[in-house]
Amino acid sequence: MLHGKRILLIVAGGIAAFKSLELIRRLRERGAAVRCVLTDAGARFVTPLSLQALSEDRVYGDMFSLTDESEMGHIQLSRDADLLVVAPATANILARMAAGLADDLAATVLLATDKPVLAAPAMNVRMWTHAATVANVEILKKRGVTFVGPNDGAMACNEHGPGRMSEPAEIVAAVESMLVATQRPLAGKRALVTSGPTREAIDPVRYISNHSSGKQGHAIAAALARLGAEVTLVSGPVAVGDPAGLRTVHVESADQMLAACLAAGRVDVAVCAAAVADWKAAKPAGAKIKKKTGTQPPAIELTPNPDILATLSKPGPGRPALVVGFAAETEDLVANAIAKRSRKGCDWIVANDVSPATGTFGGERNTVHLVSAEGVEAWPTLAKGDVADRLAARIALHLGRPRSAEAAE
Ligand code: CTP
Repeated sequence: MLHGKRILLIVAGGIAAFKSLELIRRLRERGAAVRCVLTDAGARFVTPLSLQALSEDRVYGDMFSLTDESEMGHIQLSRDADLLVVAPATANILARMAAGLADDLAATVLLATDKPVLAAPAMNVRMWTHAATVANVEILKKRGVTFVGPNDGAMACNEHGPGRMSEPAEIVAAVESMLVATQRPLAGKRALVTSGPTREAIDPVRYISNHSSGKQGHAIAAALARLGAEVTLVSGPVAVGDPAGLRTVHVESADQMLAACLAAGRVDVAVCAAAVADWKAAKPAGAKIKKKTGTQPPAIELTPNPDILATLSKPGPGRPALVVGFAAETEDLVANAIAKRSRKGCDWIVANDVSPATGTFGGERNTVHLVSAEGVEAWPTLAKGDVADRLAARIALHLGRPRSAEAAE
C-alpha cells in the first residue's frame, strides 16, 4: 500500500511519543521507508536508539552536527520525503510551525519542505482548546497542513477530553489517503455508488423505509471522485447534499435504483452502500387507504425487492472488475458478512455494526471490517469520511494491480 513511499517522521516531546514507535512499525509493515527527526524534548520520552532500531535508518536531531549536515543537509532531509508526519505534534511545535520559526532541526525541516505535512496533535485538553493553539491550528490548516485527531479520552494528566494523539492505525490511514490522493490513481476509471435508503410506496402518502442517512455512501462517492474516477452516485431520499465533482441520480424505490444503476453503463467498480428496502408492497394502492371504523386494520402484502448488489455481481462480460457490498449487522458481524459475500457473489463486503449503541446509523463515525477473498481486516473506528478515503485508496490499489496479482488472490 505504501511501497516506495518515504515518510519523514518528526517526533516532538510529548508522552504520546511512545506511540510513534508503533507508528514506525506499522508504516514499515505497509512498505514505507521511515526516517526520523527527534526533537530535544522528544528525546526525553523516546530514545534515538529505539527510533533507529525500528526505522533501520539513522535518526536526525542536531541541526549543527557536522556529520549530519555533510551526510544529509536539512534541506535535503525535507525534500527527500514524500510526506512529513509530525507525531506527536505538541502545542509547542504547532506554535513554532505557525510562527515560521527555524530554531531546531525539526522546525527548520518543516519550514524548508515543499512536501505535504500531516500533524497528529497530542497535548493536554486545556492546551488544545487554548485560543493560541486554536489560532495556530487554523493558520496551519489554511496553509495546507492536514490534521489527524486528536481523539477524546482519558489523558496521562488525569484530565478528560480532546487531546489524545490518534492511534497509529488512524495515522497510517491518514497517511495512506494523503499519499494516494495526490496521484489521482482512478483517472480513466468509472465508478457506480448506491447510497441512502429506498422508499417503497404503500399508497400515495405512505411508504416503507429505513434510517440510512446516506453519509457513508456519499462520502465514498466523493472519495472515489477525488481519486480521479468518473462517478455516478445513485441516491435514495437523503438530507445530505449532492457531492461536488460527480453525477448524482436521485431515485425513490429499489426498482428505480436498479434501473438507474443499469442505465449507468459499464463501470470498473460498483459500491453498493444503499440500505435498500428488502420488501415492497405487492400492490401499492393507487389512492390513499382510508380508515374504516369497525373493520380490521388493512394487511399489507409484501413482495421482495430486486437485489441490486446480487444483480451487479452476476458473472458476465459487463460485470465490474470489483463489486463491493455493505453488511449492516447487529450480531455475529464477521460470520454474517462472510456468508453474505458468497451469497451475493460480490468481491468485498464492508461489514459495519449498526447496533443502536454504536450510533453508526446517522452518526459521524463507523467501525468496519473489510471482508474479501484474502480474509477479514478489522479497521479502527474512523470518521465516515476517513472510512471512505481508506476504501477508495484500497479500490485504487486493487484496480491498479496487474491481472496476475488479482488471479493470485
Ligand atoms: N442490497 C441491494 N439490494 C437489495 C438489498 C441489499 O443492493 N435489495 C445491498 C446493499 O446495498 C448492501 C448489501 O446488499 O450492499 C446488504 O445486503 P442485505 O442482504 O440487505 O443485508 P443487510 O441489510 O445487511 O441485512 P440482512 O442481513 O437482514 O439481509
